[in-house]
Amino acid sequence: MKHNRLACIILAAGQGTRMRSNCPKVLTFFENKTIIGHVIEKAKLLETDQVVVVVSPSHIEEFESKFGNHVTFAIQENPFGTGDAFLAGLKKINNDIQEIIVLCGDTPLIQEKTLTDFANLCRISNSEAGLITSTVENPKMYGRIIRNSKNEFEKIVEWKDAKTKEKEIKEINSGMYFFQIQTIKNHISKINNNNASGEFYLTDVFTSIQSKNGAICTFPISGEEEILGINTKKDLSQALKISNSNRLDSFMVNNGVTIIDTASTFIGPDVTIGKDTVVKPNTWIEGEVSIGENCDIGPFVCIRGIKDRITILNGCTVGPFTSLREGCLVKDNAKVGTFVEMKKTQLGENAKANHLSYLGDSIVGARSNIGAGTITCNYDGYEKHKTYIGEDVFIGSDTIIVAPITINNRSYTGAGSVITKDVQEDTLAVSRSAQRNIENWVSRYKEKRELRRKK
Ligand code: UD1
Ligand code: CA
Repeated sequence: MKHNRLACIILAAGQGTRMRSNCPKVLTFFENKTIIGHVIEKAKLLETDQVVVVVSPSHIEEFESKFGNHVTFAIQENPFGTGDAFLAGLKKINNDIQEIIVLCGDTPLIQEKTLTDFANLCRISNSEAGLITSTVENPKMYGRIIRNSKNEFEKIVEWKDAKTKEKEIKEINSGMYFFQIQTIKNHISKINNNNASGEFYLTDVFTSIQSKNGAICTFPISGEEEILGINTKKDLSQALKISNSNRLDSFMVNNGVTIIDTASTFIGPDVTIGKDTVVKPNTWIEGEVSIGENCDIGPFVCIRGIKDRITILNGCTVGPFTSLREGCLVKDNAKVGTFVEMKKTQLGENAKANHLSYLGDSIVGARSNIGAGTITCNYDGYEKHKTYIGEDVFIGSDTIIVAPITINNRSYTGAGSVITKDVQEDTLAVSRSAQRNIENWVSRYKEKRELRRKK
């Protein structure tokens, strides 16, 4: 729908004291970006001509370094309430703006579609102002929506100011609004701070608009999922659960991924998984990770493509108890097993590292087998070095490979060897002292000890 020139004001100058954190509330990480980063992203998707973020003077530098010139910043000198914060934002609005959407910096789960549908409803109904409301099981400390006997919107009462009967109301204010610019300019100066908090409530402009018979549109949705405001660490946890659970649903329903236990599985927003892959319990996958089809992942697996992406191709087995870190590539049908950690490592097609190994900064060719207890010593205390292992190589158990080094195709290393020199093709490399078997040693030893004890 074509619309008038639209701006979005995001309120984010609150102190966020309920989080009990050293980090400003809305700059707390929520999955792949900050809480407010998600809100800014949604605001941009609405085809806004301007996005204004209202912040407190003490946090302006942190905000500027994170979001720079993507948005306009407005400073609210003192946290006198959402009405006062909005006013600070309004002063930065360009002259040609005709409509304003207000979002709270602490509600990262709101969906773009909900906001677009909401704004379009306000426009179609020629409303001067609008708000998204929601009916929830537990209305917590949200503002309550008061309706008259004809069920028409009357006003918002804040939890702190609500009478006992009003607190029972389950329709709440989401904190997301739509205003015609002229309407809000006319009414914003009429609010006061005669309330339980001594703050200027933006919600009071609706009372003011209503008193002048201005058209107000409510957009009711159900449940707290999209409008959940993160005020405490408990809210943060609840929001993360909702977001993860929605994604897991989508993996199962739209992508044909099998997830055995959704309650113990976390899969981040930048992960892709192919069909018929099975994800087993207690698995954590975050960062830029792409997993192919028919893989078997878990249980107890941690895959973190945070610093650099991880790619797992088709038919691979990862787990149980495997840790994959940045920059790994696991090629078709390869296996990474129990207590194996890999970092910046490529494992070739059909290659296996099944038990108790560390492979860092390495390339392992197709069909090679990495024996239990193999360690690539990639770090000399100053720099990282590379290990190249060719195709069809057999690394014996407990081999220590000191990088930089190349072990060529079809070679073997003897179990327990420390390999410090390159190995040519078709070669066995062993580096361990020869074994001596001393016959009757044990009984002689024990005799001696017994004699000594008796003395
Ligand atoms: C607000 C609404 C409430 C609604 C809820 C939805 C008011 C008075 N109440 O309550 O009706 O149900 O949101 O989540 O608006 N902020 C500032 N400056 C301030 C105070 C707040 O910028 O002086 C910002 C905060 O950073 C936050 C947003 O405004 O992003 C909302 O403030 P918050 O204190 O979280 O309001 P709620 O108590 O949640
Ligand atoms: Ca809030």
